Amino acid sequence: MSALRDTQPEELPPGTAGEQPAVVLCPGGPMLLRGHHVIEDEDGTRHETVRPVSAVCRCGKSASKPWCDGTHKLLPRKLRP
Ligand code: FES
Repeated sequence: MSALRDTQPEELPPGTAGEQPAVVLCPGGPMLLRGHHVIEDEDGTRHETVRPVSAVCRCGKSASKPWCDGTHKLLPRKLRP
């Protein structure tokens, strides 16, 4: 029987290489949120993330706000976030 090895990466301080950021701003596209979050829209309605990674619309044109539906890809570059 082989011995078990601890394969967990060493603990790194927040913001250092190797750590997955919780928020990623995609150039010209959505904001990606990793993990569980609650988004409050302009009407005060709260939306919970249900996926490991969720895309929040930043262009304002999505038909399924607050989530990105890919509409930003149809916009001229100067109108993308
Ligand atoms: S950012 Fe993707 S639809 Fe708005």
